[in-house]
Amino acid sequence: MLFYEPARRDKSILPHDPIKALIAPRPIGWVSTISSKGEINLAPYSFFNQIHSSPAILAFASDGQKDSITNLMQIGEFVWSLPTLAQKDAMNATSATLPYGRNEFEHAGLAMADARMVRPKRVVGAPAALECRLCEIIRLKDSDGRELDGWMAIGEVVGVHIDETFIRAGRVDTAAMRPIARCGYHDYAVVDELFEMRRPA
Ligand SMILES: Cc1cc2nc3c(=O)[nH]c(=O)nc-3n(C[C@H](O)[C@H](O)[C@H](O)COP(=O)(O)O)c2cc1C
Repeated sequence: MLFYEPARRDKSILPHDPIKALIAPRPIGWVSTISSKGEINLAPYSFFNQIHSSPAILAFASDGQKDSITNLMQIGEFVWSLPTLAQKDAMNATSATLPYGRNEFEHAGLAMADARMVRPKRVVGAPAALECRLCEIIRLKDSDGRELDGWMAIGEVVGVHIDETFIRAGRVDTAAMRPIARCGYHDYAVVDELFEMRRPA
């Protein structure tokens, strides 16, 4: 087994940090926010997950205070849209570094739809979307307690949209939606096959 401390990686063996290729696949938080001036934003975040069941709570983290975090500091609401294989290129286009205030829905040629409970928009064509109210934004610290330019936004799901064509016998057919997930480097995975396993009694 290769072992190294992160600060001492031998770049002749591993030129690129491999950790994101290990914590893989990561679901993608395709997050829409809005500024206090009404400027609309959409961006993908793969440091993203559901972190609590009931109520459902989602979190995503930003390397640096990006526009999504800035907007959430103004209007504490976001919408997560589920990115699928069908919208992979549009999802990627929304990661472009655009000037603050530029609408990535327009940049990526995506139609947006109103949410019901919050002001940010959802992505038309995404088979599911979750409307969230911000719980808190946490500034990340390293293990010595030093503040990082890393920000985690945590939000409670207050509204759920699901395309009913993916609901079969009362259950969501995740594989049929073809969700995409981020791996390391420039790699992605697609969920198109599931297997079932029950927890021990
Ligand atoms: C699939 C994907 C996942 C990404 N995940 C993250 C992430 O977890 N954290 C982050 O800071 N940037 C991430 N990025 C880069 C941001 O999407 C990019 O910096 C974007 O411009 C941020 O937008 P914003 O400034 O409008 O919030 C990711 C990009 C892609 C394509």
